[in-house]
This record gives sequence, C-alpha cells and structure tokens, in this order.
Amino acid sequence: MLSCWSTMTMITFSLSTTSAGNHTDQLALLAFKSQISQDPLQVLNSWNTSLHFCQWHGVTCGRRHQRVVMLDLQSHGLTGSLSPYIGNLSFLHTIDLGNNNFRGEIPSSEVLGHLFRLRVFALSNNSFTGELPSNFSRNLESLSLGGNKLSGTFPKQLCALQKLKILYLWGNNLTGSLPYDLGNLSSLQLISLGRNFLEGGIPDSIGQLKSLYFLSLGENMLSSKLPPSIYNLSSLWTLSITMNQIVDRLPSDTSRTFLPNLRGLFIADNHFFGPLPSSLFNISTLEMLDLGKNGFTGKVPDNMGNMQKLQVLVLSEINQLGSSGHADDLKFLSSINSTVLRIIRASDCQLSGTLHKSLANISFTQLEELSLSGNQISGIIPSEIFIKLPNLTILRLNDNFLTGNIPQDIGKLNNLQALTLGNNNLSGRIPSSINNLARLLHLKLNNNNFEGVVPNTSNLQSLLELGLSGNKLNTTLEQVFGQTTHGLLYAYLADNSFTGSLPVEVGNFEYLVRMDVSNNYLEGEIPNTLGKCLSLERLSLMGNSFRGSIPPSFSSLQGLTFLDLSQNNFSGEIPMFLQNLSSSLQYLNLSFNNFEGAMPTQGIFQNASAFSILGNNKLCGGISELQLPACPIIKQKRFGNIKSLWVRR
Ligand SMILES: *[C@@H]1O[C@H](CO)[C@@H](O)[C@H](O)[C@H]1NC(C)=O
Ligand SMILES: *[C@@H]1O[C@H](CO)[C@@H](O)[C@H](O)[C@H]1NC(C)=O
Ligand SMILES: *[C@@H]1O[C@H](CO)[C@@H](O)[C@H](O)[C@H]1NC(C)=O
Ligand SMILES: *[C@@H]1O[C@H](CO)[C@@H](O)[C@H](O)[C@H]1NC(C)=O
Ligand SMILES: *[C@@H]1O[C@H](CO)[C@@H](O)[C@H](O)[C@H]1NC(C)=O
Ligand SMILES: *[C@@H]1O[C@H](CO)[C@@H](O)[C@H](O)[C@H]1NC(C)=O
Ligand SMILES: *[C@@H]1O[C@H](CO)[C@@H](O)[C@H](O)[C@H]1NC(C)=O
Ligand SMILES: *[C@@H]1O[C@H](CO)[C@@H](O)[C@H](O)[C@H]1NC(C)=O
Ligand SMILES: *[C@@H]1O[C@H](CO)[C@@H](O)[C@H](O)[C@H]1NC(C)=O
Ligand SMILES: *[C@@H]1O[C@H](CO)[C@@H](O)[C@H](O)[C@H]1NC(C)=O
Ligand SMILES: *[C@@H]1O[C@H](CO)[C@@H](O)[C@H](O)[C@H]1NC(C)=O
Ligand SMILES: *[C@@H]1O[C@H](CO)[C@@H](O)[C@H](O)[C@H]1NC(C)=O
Repeated sequence: MLSCWSTMTMITFSLSTTSAGNHTDQLALLAFKSQISQDPLQVLNSWNTSLHFCQWHGVTCGRRHQRVVMLDLQSHGLTGSLSPYIGNLSFLHTIDLGNNNFRGEIPSSEVLGHLFRLRVFALSNNSFTGELPSNFSRNLESLSLGGNKLSGTFPKQLCALQKLKILYLWGNNLTGSLPYDLGNLSSLQLISLGRNFLEGGIPDSIGQLKSLYFLSLGENMLSSKLPPSIYNLSSLWTLSITMNQIVDRLPSDTSRTFLPNLRGLFIADNHFFGPLPSSLFNISTLEMLDLGKNGFTGKVPDNMGNMQKLQVLVLSEINQLGSSGHADDLKFLSSINSTVLRIIRASDCQLSGTLHKSLANISFTQLEELSLSGNQISGIIPSEIFIKLPNLTILRLNDNFLTGNIPQDIGKLNNLQALTLGNNNLSGRIPSSINNLARLLHLKLNNNNFEGVVPNTSNLQSLLELGLSGNKLNTTLEQVFGQTTHGLLYAYLADNSFTGSLPVEVGNFEYLVRMDVSNNYLEGEIPNTLGKCLSLERLSLMGNSFRGSIPPSFSSLQGLTFLDLSQNNFSGEIPMFLQNLSSSLQYLNLSFNNFEGAMPTQGIFQNASAFSILGNNKLCGGISELQLPACPIIKQKRFGNIKSLWVRR
C-alpha cells in the first residue's frame, strides 16, 4: 500500500515541472494508485515520478497533448477502490479495469459526467457495489459492468446514450423493470442483462433496436408475454431469455417469419405453451435451439432439413410434447440434415415411437450426446446407433419401453462416457464388447431383465458407477469385484441372483462411496478389509445370508450415513463403536438377524426412530422405548475375563 506521505512527496516534486492539464492527470493517476491496496503482479511499480506518467504501465497518452486517453489495467489482480480522481482525466476515452478485485462504489454520476470524451467504460468482473452510474458522456459506446454486485434499478438516463453499442450488465443485483426508453438506444448491438433480479415485461420498444444482434435477458424474473416487436429484430443472432416467467406462444407459421438470421434461441425454463411452429425449425442459420422446460404441446416439427448448421437441439422436459399415441413422435430425428450436430436432448417429453425407424437414415458423425430418457420409446436398440453415431459420448435411453438385447456393436463407441439404459425391458446377456468402452464413467443398466454373467469390465479404467441392480444376473460377487476397476465410486448390484461372498479384495476399492448388494444369494462373513473403504457413505447388505459378526474394522468408516444389514444371519454383539459414528450415521437397520447381548445406548442408539433391531430375540437393555428385557448382571469373578459387562442401562 502506498502511504499518504509518499504520495504527497511525489506530487510536490512533480508540481514544478508540469503545466496545468498534464499535472492534473498525474495527480489523478497517483490518487488512483493510492486507493489500490494490493497489486500482486506489481504492475504499479512503474507508476513513479522518475518515469513520465505516459510511460506508466497501462497508461496511454494522446500524442499531441500528453494527456491520458486510455487506462487499461484489466486482469491484473488489483484490489482496492476506484478513486473519484479519475473524473479529472478529462481526455480519457477508455477505462478498462475488468477482472480485478475493485470494491466499493463506482464514483458518483457527477464525477463521471466530466469525462465527456469517454467511449468505453469497462469494470466487469470486480466487486463493485451500490447503484449503476447514469450520467455518462453522450459519446459512450460500451458500458461493461457485468459480474459485480451492483443493485438498484436500471436508470432511465442511460437510455439517452445514442451512441451506446454494448450494454453488458450480466450478473449483478439489478431490480425493477426495464424502462420503455430502452428503445431510444438506437445504436445498441449487444444487451446482456442476464442473471439479475429484473421483473415486469420486456418493453415493446425493444423492436426499435435495428442493429441488435445479441439480446440476453436470461435468469431474471421477467414475466408476461414477449413483445410482438421482438420478431422485428431481423439482425438478431442470439436471443436468450432462459429461466424467466414468460407466458406466451411462439408465433404461428402463418403470422410472421421467425427471425431470419437467428443462430441461437434459448427460451428454456419459462411458461411457453401451444405448438412448436414449423417455421422455427426451418431457419437455415440456426445453430442452437433450447426450448426445454416449457409447456409446449403437439408434435415436434419434422421439417428440419433446412437447419444444416444445427449443433444443439434441446427439447427436454416439455412433458406434453409426444402424441402419447401410436404415432412416431421421433420422426423429427430423421428429418435433421446437419453434419455438425453435437447434442440432441429430448428427455422427459412423452415421446413414443421406435428408434430403429427414426434412426434408419441418419448419419450424425459428430453427435456427442443423444438423450431420450423418460419417454415412451419402444422396440429394440438398433445396431445403427453404434455405427452411424461413432462419436457418441453420452447415450441416455433410460426409463423407456425398450426391449431386446444390447447389440455387440456397442463396443464401437470408443468415446462413450455415459451409458444409461436403466428401467427398460432389455434382456439377454450384457455384451462382452462393453469392455471396449475404455472411457466409460457411468454404466447404468438397472431394472431390466439382463441375465447370466456380468462381462469382464477390467478395461474400463475410468469407471465410476456400475449400476446393475434389478436384473437376473447370477455371477459370483468375487467375479464382479475381481474384474472391476478399483476407482469405482458407486456399486449398485441389488436385486439380482448374485452368489458367493463379499471378497477380501473389496478393500482395494478405496474410493467406494455407495455399495448396495441387497437381495441376492450372498453368504459368508463380511471381510475385515471392508474397513479400508474409508469413503463409504451408504452400505446395504440387506436380504442375503451373510453371517458372523460386524467386523471391528467398521469403526474406521467415519463417513457412514446409511447401514442396512437386515434380513441376514448376523450374530454376536452389536459393537459399541457404532455409537461413536453418531456424527455421520443417520440410518441403521439390524433387524431380522441373530444379534445378542446388551444394546448400546449412546449415539444413534439414543434415537429409536433412526435404527431398527426388530426380530433379534436375544438382545437386552437399550433405551426404554425398545422395551427390551433388562440384561442379566454377570459376575466377573465367576466368568473370568469377560470383556464387556452386559449392563448398559
Ligand atoms: C506538460 O505539458 C507541457 C506543455 O504542454 C510540457 O512542456 C511538459 O513537459 C509536460 N509535463 C509532463 C510531466 O508531461
Ligand atoms: C520507477 O519505475 C521504473 C520502471 O518500472 C523502475 O525502473 C524504477 O526503479 C522505479 N523507480 C523508483 C524510485 O521506484
Ligand atoms: C480532481 O478530482 C477530485 C475528486 O473528484 C477533486 O477533489 C479535485 O478538486 C479535482 N481537481 C484537480 C485539479 O485535481
Ligand atoms: C452530470 O454531469 C454533468 C457534467 O459534469 C453535471 O453538470 C451534472 O450535474 C451531472 N448530473 C448528475 C445527475 O449527476
Ligand atoms: C468475466 O468472467 C467470466 C468468467 O467468470 C468470463 O467468461 C468473462 O469473459 C469475463 N468478462 C470480462 C469482461 O472479462
Ligand atoms: C445481491 O443479491 C443476493 C441475493 O438476493 C443477496 O444475497 C446479496 O446480499 C445481494 N448483494 C448486494 C450487494 O446487494
Ligand atoms: C426517448 O425518446 C423519447 C422520444 O424521442 C423522448 O421523449 C425521451 O425523452 C427519450 N428518453 C431519454 C431517456 O432520452
Ligand atoms: C415491425 O416493423 C414493421 C416495419 O418496420 C412495422 O410496420 C411493424 O409495425 C413492426 N411490428 C411491430 C410489432 O413492431
Ligand atoms: C421453409 O423455408 C423455405 C425457404 O427457405 C420456405 O420456402 C418454406 O415455405 C419454409 N417452410 C416453412 C414450414 O416455414
Ligand atoms: C442435406 O444437406 C446436404 C448439404 O449438406 C444437401 O446436399 C442435401 O440435399 C440435404 N438433404 C436433404 C434430404 O435435405
Ligand atoms: C468427435 O468429437 C470430438 C470432440 O469431442 C471431435 O474433436 C472429433 O472431430 C469428432 N470425431 C469425429 C469422427 O467426428
Ligand atoms: C445363470 O443364468 C443363466 C441364464 O439365465 C443360466 O443359463 C445359468 O444356468 C445360470 N447359472 C447359474 C450358476 O445359476
């Protein structure tokens, strides 16, 4: 930090050598510097009087007058407040302090009003508070104050800036509604007011902004309809109003043409209703379309042949989109004719139809994501998907009515990272070619009718999630764990016909967070090595034939929140250390086993609704709600070195 004293010396020193204007500039710059408390890159070291201020880092002077015209210190890690002295840099046309850590208020409107040459005022990505300044030079072309904490309403006076081209106020705390006079800003090209707290309607005057190509108002609380004039913005490339409360229809095909130069339309998460107009799916410039989370009805237009630049199509959570009849709601897929398509997301839309018809003629060599989960899609998974979509990274078809096998060709999708086919009626064996999908992170095949052995997955070195619950798989558990990568986080193996025991090697799965092997035909004792799975949060062994006691190593599972050992043949005492897991353990089910001896009374055992011990007939003591018999008092002498006395009441 620069002390007052050294500032004053420098000022005195320089007084004698400068004339009025350039002296004021130097004084203003030094005042600016004096408000900077941290300068980790030491960029302001050069700001000393042994160097002319026109040579100071980030300062640019006009050639003729030696007056400061530009101050550019963006992304320098500076912390401090903005000195009002900048209002004296009267030749300034550009100030850019973006991506720093400036705090406090932006100098008052009166101060900034003196900067009558100012064209660019850029303070984005700092921590400024207070209200938006409003009294700028009529020459202002770019106002960038996004990513701060500015509050208050959008000042009407800003609407007088006839030369303003860029208005970037994204990510502040602005409230209130947008002024009608916004339409006066006739030079505007870019409006970014997203992620604020704006409410009310979008003013109809917006249609007057003939040069506007980017309009982003997403993540506010804007309501009512879109002004009809918005469809007059023929230069618009991007329209984003996601996450608001707009209630409207899209214009019908006959009423008007739909923004002819649009490249991105983002209207997800509003209250749009009515049909999806064909004219929208006919804009040849369109690259990204996000209509999800709205109330549209009817079918998806299947005339997309014109959208040859389409990259992203999102229709998810438009939950009345399907005809929910026999019609092929997926026909739109085969109408897409874009070689640059990357993402198709149409999950939870009630779409019916079959994949093998809809994907017969397609060829999306760049497609990375196909998500059609939560629909009513029936029929088989055609091999074509795996041949014609070679670049798939994400394939989500879960929660549909798919039948048949998974084709061996699935092994051709070298880039696949997520495969979710759960909750269908798929059957047969899980193809061994699964083991070719070396980048797979998530494999979810739960709740189908897969049978037989679990194929080798030892090549799936990145696998984090193995979801096989609810099938008819009958390998031994030793085999499953023996050929699975140790980096696994989630092992869902419940409700199958797995046999064998929990292998000692389970201790090698040190990142395991959740393991569910409930309702199988498993037996044997729990290996002590399970205590090495230090990340375990949820463990269910319910509904098997496990026996023996709870191993002492369980005491190291300090993150355990859920433990279900019910409906097995476990025996022995309930270990005391379970009471010490109280900071994490929220659910403990020991019912229908053969546990015996005294109940612990501390930790989770204080709360009768958090644990269950039903169907263990040899327990005694515990909290009174359990109404167990008191434990017999055993004399130590008689029994020699009995380790724990039973009485714990
Ligand atoms: C200030 O301007 C005067 C004349 O315009 C010039 O002689 C003098 O060197 C300048 N001083 C500085 C510090 O720029
Ligand atoms: C002033 O800045 C120049 C340039 O960074 C540097 O070389 C010089 O040492 C500095 N002088 C003082 C007194 O800090
Ligand atoms: C410069 O600005 C400051 C603060 O806004 C003010 O106090 C000072 O009088 C102005 N004039 C000069 C010549 O520094
Ligand atoms: C705007 O700036 C001008 C010029 O400095 C000044 O005269 C006027 O008082 C300012 N208005 C407001 C509202 O600050
Ligand atoms: C502000 O930060 C975001 C990332 O947090 C970045 O995308 C954006 O380009 C930055 N804006 C400016 C003007 O530097
Ligand atoms: C901005 O708004 C958020 C959310 O309402 C609030 O938590 C925060 O305190 C506000 N910050 C300022 C500076 O007003
Ligand atoms: C916007 O334009 C209208 C009509 O020309 C005018 O009456 C109004 O004062 C202008 N608003 C601003 C803030 O300049
Ligand atoms: C759209 O522009 C045309 C021609 O400029 C004009 O006649 C029409 O009224 C405008 N429509 C809306 C809704 O603003
Ligand atoms: C699609 O656009 C073409 C011109 O590119 C036009 O002839 C056709 O009528 C449009 N179809 C629809 C349904 O809007
Ligand atoms: C698909 O697009 C190509 C150009 O990329 C074009 O040649 C072909 O005619 C189009 N096919 C259909 C059915 O529209
Ligand atoms: C597959 O996608 C990647 C990006 O994920 C891209 O770089 C590559 O070109 C694509 N490959 C093919 C064959 O399209
Ligand atoms: C496992 O299931 C398959 C297919 O249902 C069956 O053919 C096989 O006999 C079963 N193996 C065992 C050991 O039960």
